[in-house]
Amino acid sequence: MIAPIERTLAGLRQQTALWRKEDETIGVVPTMGALHQGHLSLARAARDKCDRVIVTIFVNPKQFNDPDDLKNYPRTEEEDARKLESIGVDLIYVPEPDQIYPDGFATTVSVSGLTDMLCGESRPGHFDGVATVVSKLFIQTSADYAFFGEKDYQQLQIVRRMALDLDLAVDVVGCPTIREEDGLAMSSRILLLSDRARIHAPVLAEVMEEMREKLQGGASMADILPDATARIMAAGFNDVDYLELRDGGDLSLLDKAKPDARLFAAAWLAGVRLIDNIAV
Ligand code: PAF
Repeated sequence: MIAPIERTLAGLRQQTALWRKEDETIGVVPTMGALHQGHLSLARAARDKCDRVIVTIFVNPKQFNDPDDLKNYPRTEEEDARKLESIGVDLIYVPEPDQIYPDGFATTVSVSGLTDMLCGESRPGHFDGVATVVSKLFIQTSADYAFFGEKDYQQLQIVRRMALDLDLAVDVVGCPTIREEDGLAMSSRILLLSDRARIHAPVLAEVMEEMREKLQGGASMADILPDATARIMAAGFNDVDYLELRDGGDLSLLDKAKPDARLFAAAWLAGVRLIDNIAV
């Protein structure tokens, strides 16, 4: 059965109050829709852990730097609801914009430090938008658990920091990146790639895998970065925003592998920005 769709905060609260009365745990999976297997794996993880599961779908204007990117972001609500059918989520919350940002909305949640690097550098304000909407979704749903993909690893760390700093009583659960058969990390943005660009997209993950092997063998980033960047560009990518080794906890920059190191990449292919990260 397709889960009920709720579009108002009042309706959401009415429902969660009933669940709370029964002492049921609530898990939330925040999304912007255009659901793929990555999102569905989060919903399954929530289903396994919690009595009640809410998937939220809200294309959050505050986290887009580019108005065209916001306009072109895929919106596929009916299909999304059908995809969630087999998982058995309890509620799909698709708030109207004014249910998240009422008239005169004037508050921003801003996490410092973790947001200054990687995607934060090329997308100013993006993570403020993410932290603001996610804190609101945590409060609105009163979730005990929230599920995020490691594909957006920087986002996951920022959300963890934000929940800790604001004493939000929600346990943030990170779930592994789900990949296409050719290794490309699943993302709603893949839908925006032309057929031709889609063929070249997995090169990013391929190059990162090779870098991982070399780093594990003792190579430094300084040794391997020029060749790795050249390979990505030769595959038809237009630009590499970053290709960096960082600590998986505080995201500080590294030159050599160490426990909990991760390799992070963002690159542009035919007008679409792809990101990925792997543990080294
Ligand atoms: O990862 C996303 O899809 C979004 O950044 C999120 C967490 C749903 C907030 O809008």
